[in-house]
Amino acid sequence: MAMDGMDMMDDTDTSQESKVESRMSKVAGHRSKVESQRSEAPGLRVGCGFDAHRLVAGRPLVLGGVTIPYQRGLEGHSDADVLIHALCDAILGAIGAGDIGRHFPDTDPRYKGISSLVLLQRVVELAHEQGWRLVNADVTVIMQAPKIAPYVPAMIARLSEVLSPGAAINIKGKTTEGMGFTGTGEGAAAMAVALLEQRNRRKPRTGRRGIQARS
Ligand code: CDP
Ligand code: ZN
Repeated sequence: MAMDGMDMMDDTDTSQESKVESRMSKVAGHRSKVESQRSEAPGLRVGCGFDAHRLVAGRPLVLGGVTIPYQRGLEGHSDADVLIHALCDAILGAIGAGDIGRHFPDTDPRYKGISSLVLLQRVVELAHEQGWRLVNADVTVIMQAPKIAPYVPAMIARLSEVLSPGAAINIKGKTTEGMGFTGTGEGAAAMAVALLEQRNRRKPRTGRRGIQARS
């Protein structure tokens, strides 16, 4: 029956059919081009980090690797550098390597009082080993006092010593206008976002160049 049906098709039907087939193959061609572009998309990963520590008397206040003169400091197993801890988590998140607690457990005596710059250096090394480099990071420190703005250039200089060469870093301080644990001075928090790119990755061919090559 089907064969009969086919046999009965006139020239118009055949040309319609070939038009449909030609369109379908164009769509398939376009799809495979889109898929191949997708697989050649630049290797970029984004990660976010958050941390919070108590502000207590009798501890130095270390933020971004810089000791800031203040009557209280952050409490923790390491130097409790909340800024660096959030940044480490953002980088680890981007490379899919969990979090800082997994790599440097606070029950391990080796990390007692350690400078968080050392932890950041190890995190960056891990990213490099896995084929990633930091493009940029943006960090917000949330605390009522002291003002961190005057120390930001020194922090950026310190962090740049251990971050991927050429990585751009931005740091800002923010209060919560007296609200919550950061507002009362009970503690400080930090949030970070980091963008990483795959190292030595072949540049993707753009769609425009592909079209020109075909014509
Ligand atoms: O004015 P807005 O509510 O956006 O910010 P704020 O929390 O009142 O902080 C005002 C400015 O103080 C910020 O833009 C920072 O430059 C600075 N700041 C700081 O350096 N260190 C802090 N711990 C908090 C704020
Ligand atoms: Zn921490």
